[in-house]
Amino acid sequence: MPAASNVLSSIDSAQPQTFDIRPFPGAVGAEVTGLDLAQPINAADFTRIHRAHLDHHVLVFRDQHITPEEHIAFSRRFGELQIHVLKQFLLEGHPEILIVSNIIENGRNIGLGDAGKFWHSDLSYKALPSLGSMLHAQELPSEGGDTLFADMHRAWDAVPEALRKVVEGRSAAHSYTARYAETKFEGDWRPTLTAAQLAEVKEVIHPVVRTHPENGRKALFVSEGFTTRIVGLPADESRDVLQQLYALSVLEANIYRHRWQPHDLVFWDNRSLIHLAAGCPAHLRRKLYRTTIQGDAPF
Ligand code: SIN
Repeated sequence: MPAASNVLSSIDSAQPQTFDIRPFPGAVGAEVTGLDLAQPINAADFTRIHRAHLDHHVLVFRDQHITPEEHIAFSRRFGELQIHVLKQFLLEGHPEILIVSNIIENGRNIGLGDAGKFWHSDLSYKALPSLGSMLHAQELPSEGGDTLFADMHRAWDAVPEALRKVVEGRSAAHSYTARYAETKFEGDWRPTLTAAQLAEVKEVIHPVVRTHPENGRKALFVSEGFTTRIVGLPADESRDVLQQLYALSVLEANIYRHRWQPHDLVFWDNRSLIHLAAGCPAHLRRKLYRTTIQGDAPF
């Protein structure tokens, strides 16, 4: 690995690249074309990408022929990387990369087959949840396999006044094991967690409504994937309120549906969005590499 000072000087001296950032027609997301993430990104280009990420919440970088090392290096420009608790699905030699895949080789799943089967924000079950994730297509199915992203700022804007009064200032519990064993797609992808893995994913408490630390906007921060209850509400009321919030989180107008193209790298903001893997027929191969960037404690 190059020394940090060499990396920084290569960034300083990197040539500018000519690229376009085009917002998608809906409320969420933008496409980035003409940029090569295998090349060092200079400070001005990085600032432009960073700004677009804050504005559009999910960026689709087309046609990225990058190695795992380049994927990791670009991810690190945004912060420290988080290592997923399911160590058996980390890319050999690159623990910063989680393999998301339904492929079985030699009788064993090579990756997490049903990652994202419920709406969620990555690693919201950690004290320091993820800032953002970068998912790079390796092998795509001929049918299905889309990823959906829902805007949680717009979700908060849609919450009616009476419901706001119930949840503002409240916190919710998040747990990795909340729905761990539930299967939605064919197959039994989920390995039993060891005691060490369980110790890594103890329940955490986060505000129901968070303020994005960079764009200053409020966002709902609950999801069906990892949120288990609203602290201080009776169980039935907590369940009912969460169901109402989940419904408001996935209004059609606030969703971007990503239909993967070969070599796409998709970078989303977990502080602004929740996402869902729509799944594909089990006999079709799907493999992607994910890095996860650590964020701040939600407030
Ligand atoms: C994830 O939740 O990170 C996986 C999304 C996907 O496989 O489309």
